[in-house]
Amino acid sequence: MRPPPALALAALCLLALPAAAAAAYFGLTGREVLTPFPGLGTAPAPAQGGAHLKQCDLLKLSRRQKQLCRREPGLAETLQDAAHLSLLECQFQFRHERWNCSLEGRTGLLKRGFKETAFLYAVSSAALTHTLARACSAGRMERCTCDDSPGLESRQAWQWGVCGDNLKYSTKFLNNFLGPKRGSKDLRARVDAHNTHVGIKAVKSGLRTTCKCHGVSGSCAVRTCWKQLSPFRETGQVLKLRHDSAVKVSSATNEALGRLELWAPARAGSSTKGPAPRPGDLVYMEDSPSFCRPSKYSPGTAGRVCSREASCSSLCCGRGYDTQSRLVAFSCHCQVQWCCYVECQQCVQEELVYTCKH
Ligand SMILES: *[C@@H]1O[C@H](CO)[C@@H](O)[C@H](O)[C@H]1NC(C)=O
Repeated sequence: MRPPPALALAALCLLALPAAAAAAYFGLTGREVLTPFPGLGTAPAPAQGGAHLKQCDLLKLSRRQKQLCRREPGLAETLQDAAHLSLLECQFQFRHERWNCSLEGRTGLLKRGFKETAFLYAVSSAALTHTLARACSAGRMERCTCDDSPGLESRQAWQWGVCGDNLKYSTKFLNNFLGPKRGSKDLRARVDAHNTHVGIKAVKSGLRTTCKCHGVSGSCAVRTCWKQLSPFRETGQVLKLRHDSAVKVSSATNEALGRLELWAPARAGSSTKGPAPRPGDLVYMEDSPSFCRPSKYSPGTAGRVCSREASCSSLCCGRGYDTQSRLVAFSCHCQVQWCCYVECQQCVQEELVYTCKH
């Protein structure tokens, strides 16, 4: 069932906005890689009529994933939106770090087992879970609608603007889409799968119930409640904190179960077996490089803008920084005029910009 066009359009604009803003800021092309599906992210084709099938073919998915994509109108676009969202959030969360989530070196990074790799897997699966749940409630998918709030028909829900985000559907879909955990005997695969699920969980734990009263002058004769996802920024923040406290793991074969188990060392640097990582922990296998110099993992920090008080010393890796001044315009001497607006003058101020030396 489809919502009234106006509602669907509003939701679409909200979704489209970050991507457009991203393109303006970072020169995104739409070819960015969504981590768990490294082949994904060719140029988006216009979404009209039978274009959906073509769009699925353009994405480099596994044969099974391609089938799922073709069966589900709206999915190809959702995958693209999710890729944008995860990239934007990653770049925001790492804007003050030496590794700033640049696309340069991404492929190399994904082959390793660093903390940053863990974050990429988690933020990508979180973004897809989030975007798909929203796409359902916005009426952009054919095979899912609102969350099944008790006693609320979808038609009514849309009328009242209370269509809940369908996390149940998106989680189920994602588990199916990612398929059975590949190669459970392989540490890398176990670690990636674990981090992917940390991402899905983080979205789940941000689900809130929102209620709204209806009836004569807010008498609350009828109350409807629905599920709403928290803004993705909050999920990104949670995952960044998990990245900062990520747990280094090794593995051992559990003979009884015949599969690989992850475990953290008992003490830092020790090789005795400690506890298994908790389900919410991001896990990694190897220490990260410094990301100071250009490498196959990152472009390095030369040219990065830093804050002299806060970040220049760590960001520039001891190479020092250049100082440039530039003029910035801002509003000043503002006065309230009767009635009812504020009149301001334009002032210009000199501002110092610090960038890391080469
Ligand atoms: C990340 O850093 C590189 C240089 O080290 C810079 O070229 C790039 O614009 C930065 N990306 C973002 C999103 O800030």
